[in-house]
Amino acid sequence: MSNPELVKSIKKKFIELFKEKPCLYSSPGRINLIGEHTDYNMGFVLPAAIDKAIYLAISPRKDLQCKIFAYDLNDYFECSLEKISKSEKHWQNYLLGVVDQIRKAGYKYSGFNCVFGGDIPIGAGLSSSAALEAGLAFALNKIFDLGIDNLSLVKMSQKAENEFVGVNCGIMDQHINIFGKEGKVLRLDCRNLEYEYFPFDFENISIVLFDTNISHSLASSEYNTRREECNTGVQIIKNDFPFVESLRDVSQDILSGYKSKMSPTIFKRCKYVIEENIRVLRACEALNKKDLRVFGELINESHEGLSNEYEVSCTELDFLAEVSKYNSKVYGSRMMGGGFGGCTINLIETKAVEKVSEEVQKQYKKKFGNEVKVYNTQIGNGTKQMEYEDETY
Ligand code: GLA
Repeated sequence: MSNPELVKSIKKKFIELFKEKPCLYSSPGRINLIGEHTDYNMGFVLPAAIDKAIYLAISPRKDLQCKIFAYDLNDYFECSLEKISKSEKHWQNYLLGVVDQIRKAGYKYSGFNCVFGGDIPIGAGLSSSAALEAGLAFALNKIFDLGIDNLSLVKMSQKAENEFVGVNCGIMDQHINIFGKEGKVLRLDCRNLEYEYFPFDFENISIVLFDTNISHSLASSEYNTRREECNTGVQIIKNDFPFVESLRDVSQDILSGYKSKMSPTIFKRCKYVIEENIRVLRACEALNKKDLRVFGELINESHEGLSNEYEVSCTELDFLAEVSKYNSKVYGSRMMGGGFGGCTINLIETKAVEKVSEEVQKQYKKKFGNEVKVYNTQIGNGTKQMEYEDETY
């Protein structure tokens, strides 16, 4: 466990507030090695859970009240299961959305007490929101013994975000939150939800995130615009190829016939997605062959596509990816997640991490007058109940 002190404080706060001992759950953030903006296009992604998490201390109540304390925000709210509605406070909607989904699915349960907090940087593109949603769904399923299977928990958490929070995200973040495995990346086929684990064990290579520390306001509006653009592409192609339901069904060959039949923007978006899917499959082959060079090149190509064709990068992310590209100790670097801010993901020779990070920080500061945060990341397990000996935390 990566943050025993924090867990101890959360548990202590819970006991102070509710005068009983809680069950503890850890719910991780995620990285994505390759396969960006492909999940809602029914394509492939290659994420992994990380060693940063949201920790939930929770216990069932006998009445219908839900009493929730956000440790990091020092903020508290209460609601009744009889009347779940959206809150003015953004963070509450992640939880209310999950409670709402489980109720809607017909599961009967009572209220609960909860204190949660974590060390996933918020707004950095590491999916703290999915961690909160899926973490709560997982915990409620356990403490009330609801018998919901893992995939349904994933889908309910995604729906909570779509319907309650109002972000039309794909399934990647919630899926890896529940299914993540230590030391492994997971290739998910977002069309049929089949998945396979691949060991990520390049010797002497570290996964390092460089956080731009910015989040442009474009992020959510442009995310939805990209979804619509991809959909427009699909509709145009579907006129001639009725079997096409998503860009996943479109080959490079088919798309090549549409250069003059769709706007250059729509064409670029489709081209990126189709190529990114191919890159994910090639990246998995490279993992099997332990071919770090090819794996890294694919990551670099992914960034090019995201920046030039999908146009979800920004000056700061491009700068970080560019700086790393010319460093022989960095094997691959690209923006990660939705874009317009957040982190780049970098594969760096372990011995050189400190030096490379310092250099990147120096150059970024010089160019933007801003700090880069560095997260040296381990691949961890998905959401799980934490076993604790009473006095451990
Ligand atoms: C966000 C969404 C995911 C996915 C990525 C882009 O993280 O929540 O569903 O679409 O952006 O790959």
